[in-house]
Amino acid sequence: MSVLVTGGAGYIGGHMVLELLDAGEKVVVLDDLSTGFAWAVPDGVPLIVGDFGDMALVDEIVRAHQIDAIAHFAAKIVVPESVADPLLYYANNTAKARNLLECAVRNKVKHFIFSSTAAVYGEPKTNPVTEDVGLAPINPYGRSKLMVEWMLEDTAKACGLTYAVLRYFNVAGADPKGRLGQSTPQATHLIKVAVQAALGHRKGMDVFGTDYPTPDGTCIRDYIQVTDLVRAHVQALAYLRSGGASLTCNCGYGHGRSVLEVIKVVKKVTGIDFEVRLSGRRPGDPAALVAGADRIRAVLGWQPRYDDLEVIVRQAFEWERRLHNRKGG
Ligand code: UFG
Repeated sequence: MSVLVTGGAGYIGGHMVLELLDAGEKVVVLDDLSTGFAWAVPDGVPLIVGDFGDMALVDEIVRAHQIDAIAHFAAKIVVPESVADPLLYYANNTAKARNLLECAVRNKVKHFIFSSTAAVYGEPKTNPVTEDVGLAPINPYGRSKLMVEWMLEDTAKACGLTYAVLRYFNVAGADPKGRLGQSTPQATHLIKVAVQAALGHRKGMDVFGTDYPTPDGTCIRDYIQVTDLVRAHVQALAYLRSGGASLTCNCGYGHGRSVLEVIKVVKKVTGIDFEVRLSGRRPGDPAALVAGADRIRAVLGWQPRYDDLEVIVRQAFEWERRLHNRKGG
């Protein structure tokens, strides 16, 4: 049997492919290469360039490759873009996921692993935020993902498929073996932006908001290393295959760091000082978002290996340097 990874040429999906291969799994990648890269897919792994919402294509792949599980990573992920163009997000993240799920059901795919997000919680009243608090996404991105969570829940009840919904907090870092990292040129994520500033690939950086109700006034997030994150997916797959019940869990370490703390670590790890501008708030940013991370440990036996911001930043920095060199600087 094989695992179909949608978005397997992208950042998190690409790391999932590596982790599955390392675990001895057979993998097939479906990616439209809109933000992913063909070079990110290892030799020997079939890469089908196409749309995960194309049911005829997905039917064909599932039958040809004896797919028993789908790990669905392909998605639009930029919150401000989702506010500006919500229908794009509902079409891509929600409607196409419905089609994918229909293909899974009619081809009797047994398990579905879904990349969800902490954005389903919106502005949590308390932190750490556990899985069973009320869900109140504040932007179309979070809503587009939450609807898929609901579809999965209903479909699993009706059809016997089992699923794992994994709600990511702030994913960062790169493959410890140096094979892959965050490669999107216009990435907006804090650690990526900060290492680009350190390398001089952008002129300094902004801190968005210094008047939040946090100890240093800047936002707090729970940064989870990407290999730790994808290992949770592989463990979730093993759990479902061994008969485990469908599961929804947070993916984070359970503690947070502020924007200023992250920047300090980037300067320390790289040994490079760069300009940091204290700017106004970015719309839609919750003050703090930290995972209640007990369930993932209890149910999957997951243990992080890279719960160290210095390690995460070093990986991101080294990847950024390698990426720049491969492009010819
Ligand atoms: N930040 C800066 N300067 C930058 C970039 C980010 O100060 O140049 C700040 C942001 O304002 C925020 C923090 O760093 O306070 C983290 O921002 P990121 O953009 O790295 O990540 P987000 O917390 O906004 O996004 C994450 C996920 C999204 C998810 C969202 C839910 O990446 O997919 O959490 O809140 F939707």
